[in-house]
Order: sequence, then structure tokens, then C-alpha cells
Amino acid sequence: MWRLGVLVSGNGTNLQALIDACKQREIKGEIVLVASNRKHAYALVRAREAGIPTLVFEAEKYKTKTLMCSKMAQAFKEKEVDLICLAGYLLKLEPCLIRSFPRRIINIHPALLPKYGGTGMYGHHVHKAVLANKETESGCTVHLVDEIFDHGPILAQNHVPVKPDDTAETLAQRIRPKEHELYVSVVKHICTGKLDLDNFKLSDVSSRGSKSLSF
Ligand code: GRF
Repeated sequence: MWRLGVLVSGNGTNLQALIDACKQREIKGEIVLVASNRKHAYALVRAREAGIPTLVFEAEKYKTKTLMCSKMAQAFKEKEVDLICLAGYLLKLEPCLIRSFPRRIINIHPALLPKYGGTGMYGHHVHKAVLANKETESGCTVHLVDEIFDHGPILAQNHVPVKPDDTAETLAQRIRPKEHELYVSVVKHICTGKLDLDNFKLSDVSSRGSKSLSF
């Protein structure tokens, strides 16, 4: 069984999808720690209701970002976490955390990366940018986390049509269930070994463009 850690900042619907899939044994893994940078994140309520230990790391309580990062890395190491899933975590991860879990941190983003990622591209900002550019398609992406925001190798994507009368809200609502489906699917395949994060060569990935890995 893979030991999963999840990092959250907000509502936690992706976390809930992972909790439910673990409970139903669709994912052969166990969420052993949920950590948040916001103590009032509703995601923490979801975790506690599921009986999962939680921790809060508030940036203002640490002298440096590196100190906060090393405490987070220590907490995940103490719980013997095998894979960290970012599920709506809004802060950029510091290199020390990424280097403590090489190729073991994944993120879900509500657009078809590499488009509409990076600084400022979160929540409704993403969907507004997609609509402003009159895209006919959007979706969601799960990728490995590297030291550049929303940049690491793409593991899988779900495509969603953009409708002419869409608002950022309606588009977000259409994408959200596809995110849950995609994140559960990727974590499930990592936990069964079908998606091997070690032998997954970066060169293979970059040539895949916006296509998903087929499981
Ligand atoms: C999702 O849209 C996810 O793609 C992005 O942040 C949002 C988190 O939503 N990274 P939730 O907290 O899982 O409901």
C-alpha cells in the first residue's frame, strides 16, 4: 500500500475524491497526512471527518520559506509518505521539499498545460483566461512537480469542451468532476505500479505534447 500525503489550501474536492477512492479500495493506498497552509481550509474538515491526521504550516509563522519547507518535508518523512499529491495547494513549493521527494510529488491543474499555467493562474483566473482567448477546449492536467510553477512533465489530461455561453463558473463546474476522475485514475495507476514514476523518461513525456498517457 502506498502511503499518500496531500497538500491543500481550499475546499478540498480533489482531496475528497482521493479519500473516497482509497476508502473504496479503488486506490491501493492510504492517505496518512493532509497538510495545509491555511488553518481554515475546508479540506482540513474533510480530512478530519475521514480520520486522517492533519497539520497546518502557516508561512507567517516561519522565519524563512526554507524553514517552513524543511518542516513540511520532515513531517511527510516521519509519516513515511511515498507520494505527495497537491490538491489545490496555492503556494509554490520550495526546492527543499521537491528535492526531498524526487519524482514523488504530483499536482492537478484546471487547464490543459502547458497553456494557462504559472504564476497567477489559479482558480477562476485560469478559466477567465481560457474564455478571453476564445478557446474551444479546456480541461485538466496531472503533472509531476518540478521547481518551476505548473511546469513538470505531464502525466495525464482530460479534455472538456468550452461552450459559447460559458462563464468562468460554468466552465469550472464542467471541469471539476473531470479533475476528480483524472486525479483518482493517475494515483490509482501509480499505486498499482502501472504508472512508474521512476522509469518514466522525461524525453518521452515532452514529446507527448498535450496527449494523456494511456493506462
Ligand atoms: C482545482 O481546480 C485544482 O485543479 C487546482 O485547485 C483547485 C482545487 O480545488 N489546483 P479543490 O480544493 O480540490 O476543490
